Amino acid sequence: MGRELDLTNWSRYRRALGDEPLPAALCDLDAFEANARLLFGLARKANRQVRIATKSVRCPSLVARLLDLGGDCVRGLMTFSAAETAWLAKQGHTDLLLAYPTLHPRDCQMVAEANRSARAALVVDDWAQVEVIARAGVAAGVRVPLVLDVDASYRPFESARVHLGVRRSPLRAARAIADLAERIAGERGACFLGLMSYEAQVAGLPDRGGGALQAAAVRAMKRRSIAALRSSRAEIVSELVARKLVPTLFNGGGTGSIALCGDDPSLDELTIGSGFLASHLFDHIDAIALRPALSFALQVTRRPAPGLVTCAGGGVIASGEAGLSRLPHPWLPPGLSLLPHEGAGEVQTPLRVPANVELPLGAPVLFRPAKAGESLERFNELLLVRGAQIESRAQTYRGHGFAFG
Ligand SMILES: Cc1ncc(COP(=O)(O)O)c(C=O)c1O
Repeated sequence: MGRELDLTNWSRYRRALGDEPLPAALCDLDAFEANARLLFGLARKANRQVRIATKSVRCPSLVARLLDLGGDCVRGLMTFSAAETAWLAKQGHTDLLLAYPTLHPRDCQMVAEANRSARAALVVDDWAQVEVIARAGVAAGVRVPLVLDVDASYRPFESARVHLGVRRSPLRAARAIADLAERIAGERGACFLGLMSYEAQVAGLPDRGGGALQAAAVRAMKRRSIAALRSSRAEIVSELVARKLVPTLFNGGGTGSIALCGDDPSLDELTIGSGFLASHLFDHIDAIALRPALSFALQVTRRPAPGLVTCAGGGVIASGEAGLSRLPHPWLPPGLSLLPHEGAGEVQTPLRVPANVELPLGAPVLFRPAKAGESLERFNELLLVRGAQIESRAQTYRGHGFAFG
């Protein structure tokens, strides 16, 4: 049944593509909207607002659609570069959080000046970062709101030897966090706004794929990690409250973790990005069933041997720990596979084709990227498909002429 459905999906996409030049990136609007309804619904159920991670969308008109779909459930945008933050403020966005620190004076100037029309907060975790942004704040005549990044990694028994999670912030202990917040509060060009704590080891680890034993270990780690985070976040908030530094924002979560920790009472907003377009790295998160919304189409240009075709282009590789999981997956027609020794290449991607699949030269093959927004750095425009038609087109950041990082 699934295979039949995929075959009809393939003919639907083929019809939509018509004679569009390939490669082309596609967003299936029905799937995108269904994902948005599901994810905003989860946030609403947990009584939390959403911050949309622009890095995982990288297409202003899709962000605008999400703001429409989410309505009052959306609080603002989580951005990934200073130049992007400044541009979004100029476009009229009023609640921005740049989630990754910068010490570059020009970056800090842009963030500070964005605060003339928006609340453009910056994440920090070190006094050296605070000094630069506070200087920029004074020069711009604003107090830049700062959000402290709290390390959310899982360390069983608080041992430094085992660290499950990303390497970002050194801030972990409630007292150290409150000390930094207190110091920030005394600055002229900055003020303390709140906290962010992203549990990457919960959001990023697939629930399935490595056998039953591994799945059980992952489940147990996630459960313990979430429990530990609940108590450490609560402790941090109470230390801040005791010092009269009540955080006005506490951001956490990501597509892969909101279903599990979205109801943490310390958090008041959840970040969601990748789930809207549902790249394939999120297929193995048990708690949410997303629909593939983003794909890209390549042209079959060669038939190097029986049972093989070669497509033009295709090397849309995702960042992170290098490995097979970062390659795009051939998706439609169903049954195709990459060749392990060649993968998805810069100028060509060969595929193994099962005997029952007919794939003529010139036909399009659809692939799903491992990561969503990042793959759109390779495309100027997204074809917005509804049913078997291109309903409209949307420029990506790249198409707008921006490479924000
Ligand atoms: C700070 C932060 N929050 C949340 C996320 C999750 O984003 P997404 O929903 O796109 O996976 C990320 C992803 O790296 C992140 O860096």
